[in-house]
Amino acid sequence: MRSYSLIAPAKINLYLEIIGSRPDGYHELAMIMQSIDLADQIDLHPASTEAIRVYCNHPQVPTDKSNLAYRAAELMANQFPGAFSNFGGIDITVKKRIPVAAGLAGGSTNAAAVLVGIDLLWNLGLTKSELEELGASLGSDVPFCIAGGTVIATGRGEQLAPLPSLNHIHLVLAKYRSLEVSTPWAYQTYRQEFANTYVKNTEDLAARANAVHSGEIVKAILDKDAAKISQKLHNDLEKVVLPAYPKVLQLRELFASQEGVIGTMMSGSGPSVFAIVESKAQAEVVKQQIRTAIPDEDLELFVTQTIANGIQILQETGDR
Ligand code: C5P
Repeated sequence: MRSYSLIAPAKINLYLEIIGSRPDGYHELAMIMQSIDLADQIDLHPASTEAIRVYCNHPQVPTDKSNLAYRAAELMANQFPGAFSNFGGIDITVKKRIPVAAGLAGGSTNAAAVLVGIDLLWNLGLTKSELEELGASLGSDVPFCIAGGTVIATGRGEQLAPLPSLNHIHLVLAKYRSLEVSTPWAYQTYRQEFANTYVKNTEDLAARANAVHSGEIVKAILDKDAAKISQKLHNDLEKVVLPAYPKVLQLRELFASQEGVIGTMMSGSGPSVFAIVESKAQAEVVKQQIRTAIPDEDLELFVTQTIANGIQILQETGDR
């Protein structure tokens, strides 16, 4: 029997525009998602029982059915009952490094790794688009997490158009450990406050989503121009999260005032905030400056960078 270890990278949003409502209750979005080298490790081992079990080293991560990694394995077991009974249960071990409830797709990337890993474990031979379709039923960010890199995501966030990869943009990332923002809360609050700005007509919705392809940030990405990308960062959810979470606003303002920071933005529904800097050395300096300004141990700081891939196989052990 084989076992797999997979690397599951986090993401940031370089751009997040809320365009309107969808009939399924979600929002029509135009986003630019970017993988970063801050990643979890997912180990998948066949188990002798018929059970799916999740283990995690992080006390805030549930190991029951509320964990998206568990639900990903359950989805595969339901979709491929023959393979499930043939190969038996699965032990999933999550080595958590990505901050939880942070707007970094930590849960989604774990689910993505489980889908990719089980496909290999059970010799299913699914295509990337089949895996992405299964992923979309688990969460809007899961398809992106499978694909990774730099991607324009529209629709619910599941329609992906890859951009040329944007390697080695250096970042500092900050997140208060004890601060969590609920994604449904952020979108609901946005709806309450900004529904009057929503595009209503279906054709206009599609046109607005398409407009991102020719937008200035995409042009800056195609030019691999970090300074221009930094000027064009955008996240509509900041309009509701920053006023409700003063600590996130303070972080955002502190980053913006640091020498060496060329752009800063909240990622997804927050509360993590990232800053773009020009080099790894500069990232270390900015991290130290933030640590000095906010000596609170609850604040986690990471030096990280953009990468060109989603889920990767770290190790395969056992016989094929
Ligand atoms: O798809 P996912 O479960 O990750 O989404 C979490 C929540 O974010 C949804 O329940 C919804 O409230 C909100 N959401 C949205 N529109 C999207 C994606 C997410 O309203 N396109």
